[in-house]
Amino acid sequence: MWKAIILIGGPDKGTRFRPLSLDIPKPLFPVAGLPMVQHHIEACCQVPEIKEILLIGFFPLSDELKNFLAYAKKAFTPSIRYLQEYTSLGTGGGLYHFRDQISAGSPSAFLVFNVDVCCNFPLQDILHFHSSKTADDGITIVATEATHQESMSYGCLVEDKKTGEATHYVEKPETFVSSLINCGVYVFSQKVLQYMENVFKEHQSERFDGGDNGSDSSFTERISLEKDILYPYAGSGKMFVYKTKEVWGQIKSAASAIHANKLYLSLYHKTNPGRLAVGGDKQTPTIIGDVFIHKNAEVHSTAVIGPNVTIDERVVIGPGVRVSNSIVLPGAVLKDHSCVLNSIIGWESTVGQWSRVEGTAHQPDPNTQFSKIVSGGLFNEDGRLCPSITVLGRQVTVAPEIVVLNSIVLPNKAIQSSSKNLIIL
Ligand code: GDD
Ligand code: GTP
Repeated sequence: MWKAIILIGGPDKGTRFRPLSLDIPKPLFPVAGLPMVQHHIEACCQVPEIKEILLIGFFPLSDELKNFLAYAKKAFTPSIRYLQEYTSLGTGGGLYHFRDQISAGSPSAFLVFNVDVCCNFPLQDILHFHSSKTADDGITIVATEATHQESMSYGCLVEDKKTGEATHYVEKPETFVSSLINCGVYVFSQKVLQYMENVFKEHQSERFDGGDNGSDSSFTERISLEKDILYPYAGSGKMFVYKTKEVWGQIKSAASAIHANKLYLSLYHKTNPGRLAVGGDKQTPTIIGDVFIHKNAEVHSTAVIGPNVTIDERVVIGPGVRVSNSIVLPGAVLKDHSCVLNSIIGWESTVGQWSRVEGTAHQPDPNTQFSKIVSGGLFNEDGRLCPSITVLGRQVTVAPEIVVLNSIVLPNKAIQSSSKNLIIL
């Protein structure tokens, strides 16, 4: 029996994802028509040996989270539970804090995922690799190639090519270490939890040796999976690298959500072709490339949609509308002949007739092998907003016949005039 753990973080995470994460916990943001975390859950459901999925994070139990958990418990076979940290315990602290629940039923191993990665998880293969390579105290770390420059934004691994062993690990190094990066997907054997106990005890004694007898126990409970576990495990002969050439990306900024949307839609060809919209008759809109249209959305037959578009539930799209490379969130209305390119249209927002909402798409560099999408800051060195996708927050109204270009619009705004490269507060 195996278990899966998804690290979903908490409200002070996902800052680069604002304003979208103001309205919804980031792990529930819909990508390719499903909450981000549901892609992980569905991948786990393909592996019959995974009997339980634990979501670990420090989000308060909001209505959205409760509703999602209630839905997931009914919809999926493995048991699904949310374990809430009392404060941010870091990427490893939650695993240690909930060690009894994780080891209940004696799983032979447990998978751990960062929620903000998107990939075609070859889980069966990864688990098989883990069983064949490691003993009962080992770690398998899923890795992929990145460019030299980009690798430094990730955990970097050095591998012994003959044995597959990870001989060195550095989290976000300042100078180049290796182009092999940590994908945020791991398999841990049970005994790694015992190792965490040593880390916990060390932190505790450091705290007392330092003369700190304060009451903040979260300080000692905070464990970084990357720095406190992976770093010392590298070179010990117990950590192995599973290399993947599958589609992989991180979801940090709104622009990277558009890219992840594209990746997941393309994966539907393999995993779930029925989810992709098909056009071709007079009653349906023209569909270009990969498109997801929710069954409760209303899209006029003269609209042209795609490629890489998600139209979520209760969306209404009028005649002559053009949408490409965008996510249109639940309840949004795109009025007649409006045009939405490289954008995210927030919940219950309205784009007026003949208006144009357009952003600049971020793509991995097509001329560089292994390039990934870079989720840098919002502003460039001279303090200007970097051209990126346009994001309309919740309940934004864009008046008819105006242009909104490369802008971020916070929730509940009424946009009456055209704007370019602006954050509208
Ligand atoms: N439960 C819990 N508690 N989860 C957390 C916490 C916490 O206190 N802090 C972060 N997480 C979750 C996040 O939700 C995310 O899923 C994951 O842990 C990693 O988040 P970050 O700490 O923001 O790290 P990162 O995304 O910059 O880098 C990590 O992922 C890269 C791959 O995407 C590292 O693991 C890198 O080594 C790796 O390359
Ligand atoms: P690039 O290779 O990116 O230059 O693509 P493109 O010139 O085909 O088009 P662009 O990215 O500007 O727009 C994507 C699609 O939207 C194209 O198919 C355009 O025909 C269509 N489009 C662009 N502007 C409008 C508009 O104002 N109204 C409508 N209905 N469609 C538009």
